[in-house]
Amino acid sequence: MKLLSLLTLAALLAAPLAAEPKGSDTKGKFYFKKSCKTCHVEHGKAAVLTPLSKTQGQWRKVFDAGKHGKSGEGFTPKYGTAEQILDIKTFLINHASDSPQPETCGG
Ligand code: HEC
Repeated sequence: MKLLSLLTLAALLAAPLAAEPKGSDTKGKFYFKKSCKTCHVEHGKAAVLTPLSKTQGQWRKVFDAGKHGKSGEGFTPKYGTAEQILDIKTFLINHASDSPQPETCGG
């Protein structure tokens, strides 16, 4: 009986997350710092970017288009493997400005 209610609870909690990207949030944070913050930092080659820079919808658009900036180049393979880019996408969407857990990632 207890196990069944736990399973029901787990299913209820998981349901709203179903539409979210399935990558690893933790790895995404690591790869974002490693592959994106090299340029997207203060005094870097590009504008500062943190998860807070965009809303969940805006990040989704960036990654659904799959193109980096104006260049029209894909995120893969230049900025990481497909799996790493999915992790970055997951991290950015999970901590976007309108997400339940906004995060600056050190600014
Ligand atoms: C080698 C430097 C470099 C790296 C690494 C880099 N970017 Fe960029 N990025 C740029 C430059 C320069 C621009 C601005 C010119 C343009 O739009 O192409 C840009 C533009 C962008 C834009 C559009 C501008 C905006 O604010 O909406 C987004 C989004 C973006 N980058 C995301 C990323 C992500 C995510 C990563 C890591 C997967 C990444 N970038 C890695 C240099 C870089």
